[in-house]
Amino acid sequence: MADRVIFGSDHAGLALRAEAVKVAKAAGLDAEDLGPFSGDSVDYPDYARQVGEAVAGGRARLGVLVCGTGIGMSIAANKVKGVRAAHATTEFEARMARAHNDANVLCIGERVVGLGLGGAIVKAFLETPFEGGRHARRVEKMTAMER
Ligand code: RB5
Repeated sequence: MADRVIFGSDHAGLALRAEAVKVAKAAGLDAEDLGPFSGDSVDYPDYARQVGEAVAGGRARLGVLVCGTGIGMSIAANKVKGVRAAHATTEFEARMARAHNDANVLCIGERVVGLGLGGAIVKAFLETPFEGGRHARRVEKMTAMER
């Protein structure tokens, strides 16, 4: 599999999603953008589901979802088995979500963090590896809750 990151948003996250795609491409990653591509109002669970299923199914290694707050996207994405979606408002949270929680989907709110901080949060998420070790045991316990 190419090192692919998959992106989706609702109408409230169009600009930050575009910024996030740019950040991923600048990092040399393969970016798949599921849209939407107009400003028409859409329902965030539809995009959370598509991105979540793509990550859980192995089509992409990581996903990034953007809505107004990032909250609806995170609630919805976490309904998909195999998804560990993290809502982040700081670079620190994004780094920790990867390093300690092995989060595979990042959820961010364009109306909360804007483009500058939002782009930095995405970069932090994409460049941070999972630390494994004691954290792997805890992640496995979360996975066991899905069975
Ligand atoms: C859309 O207005 C808004 O509700 C949505 O983008 C998101 O913030 C939901 O969590």
